[in-house]
Amino acid sequence: MKLWGGRFQKETDDLVNELNASIGFDQRLYKEDITGSLAHAAMLADCGIISQEDAAAIAEGLRGILADVEAGTVAFTADQEDIHMNIETLLTARIGDAGKRLHTARSRNDQVALDFRMYVREQIPVITEQLLALESVLCKRAKEYQTAVMPGYTHLQRAQPISFAQHLMAYAGMFARDVTRLEDCAARLNECPLGSGALAGTTYPIDRWATAAALGFDRPVSNSLDGVSDRDYALELMSALSILMMHLSRFSEEIILWCSWEFKFIELDDAYATGSSIMPQKKNPDVAELVRGKTGRVYGDLMSLLTVMKGLPLAYNKDMQEDKEPVFDAVDTVEMCLPVFTAMLDTMTVRTDNMRSAAGRGFINATDCADYLTKKGMPFRDAYTVTGNLVAACTAQGRTLEELTLPEFQEVSPLFEADVYEAIRLENCMALRASYGGPAVSETSRQIADAEAFVKAHTKS
Ligand code: ARG
Repeated sequence: MKLWGGRFQKETDDLVNELNASIGFDQRLYKEDITGSLAHAAMLADCGIISQEDAAAIAEGLRGILADVEAGTVAFTADQEDIHMNIETLLTARIGDAGKRLHTARSRNDQVALDFRMYVREQIPVITEQLLALESVLCKRAKEYQTAVMPGYTHLQRAQPISFAQHLMAYAGMFARDVTRLEDCAARLNECPLGSGALAGTTYPIDRWATAAALGFDRPVSNSLDGVSDRDYALELMSALSILMMHLSRFSEEIILWCSWEFKFIELDDAYATGSSIMPQKKNPDVAELVRGKTGRVYGDLMSLLTVMKGLPLAYNKDMQEDKEPVFDAVDTVEMCLPVFTAMLDTMTVRTDNMRSAAGRGFINATDCADYLTKKGMPFRDAYTVTGNLVAACTAQGRTLEELTLPEFQEVSPLFEADVYEAIRLENCMALRASYGGPAVSETSRQIADAEAFVKAHTKS
């Protein structure tokens, strides 16, 4: 018998039950559901809407159900549609009439809005902690490679010298923003929808501030229609997770490139790579490729809920039951990817020798050569042209700027002197880029210290 069976004369069609039921996935919300019901029952009793005895029986019954669900001895049924009705039905079976009083002044619409909001709120610290662990590993690895020169790229063409530390710390900046985006989401979502009722509040003298406080919310949602129909918090979470995955995916792309024989800037630890069933020589960066691939599915999760919501009139519509699976999937995906990715970075071997030799080809000190002339008085635009001509000549002859003789330099400009070789030495080119945010050790040290302070400030002890 359905909890809502009163006005119906026929049993629900089996296929409708199948379509309608959400218990297959929303049973994950059992704890949030019970927590919300405990707060609701206590408030009902405190406001004189049900008796204290009934509230005590409800609390005891709910705690028993919680223990049994966690022990795995409760079988939920699709006939009871969702987690909310399954638990209420179980409760009434166990404690009788008091169980039937629990749903006074409440609807499944505010109940599910509450449960789902609490679920999202609980996941944010979990993901934040994983991000901070990644941040710490980036700092640790960056400290090892502050003087390791590598080519920095634009258009995937070698551009200017940077250090591997600086490259890593660029990602640290992205993941720090991901942390603050999640914090923003957590701050905004912390309003309690419970007490919105089906949509229009209730005639009972409930105390929404009491349930909000009991459940750790800053305040009740101000408008009951908004309370039951808002899913912004889920969309904000998935937006933040999509951006986070985009960062992981860009990083993955670089890991994949760096593992190739064409680059060989890094070697992955055997525990974080996979082999081929036919090619004995292969060591594949599957972790990075899967993270890159799973990024698409998190975007898809976001798009699917955005699309569900876009045409919905106020207030609750059953379409909104489609909110949970994408959020669960996005959260599960991120929570699976982050720790593996972090461990992969922590254990990879960095081939600074290959980075250095790649940096030696590709004229990444050409800007420094032009800057040398500029500092000796030539206008930058002219220095740029002179250096461009030198690069063209070297390219034709298969030589580097460092390999030019002083007379060859002086042929194009008398401003060149013997100190040009120091000025275009890659280690110097990198070390002299000490502008705020640059790759000089003084600056990467500051970036690492800032990131470490960020981790400390955002770690919940
Ligand atoms: N299972 C529903 C959901 O997940 C719960 C709310 C149902 N409300 C309703 N009026 N049918 O959205």
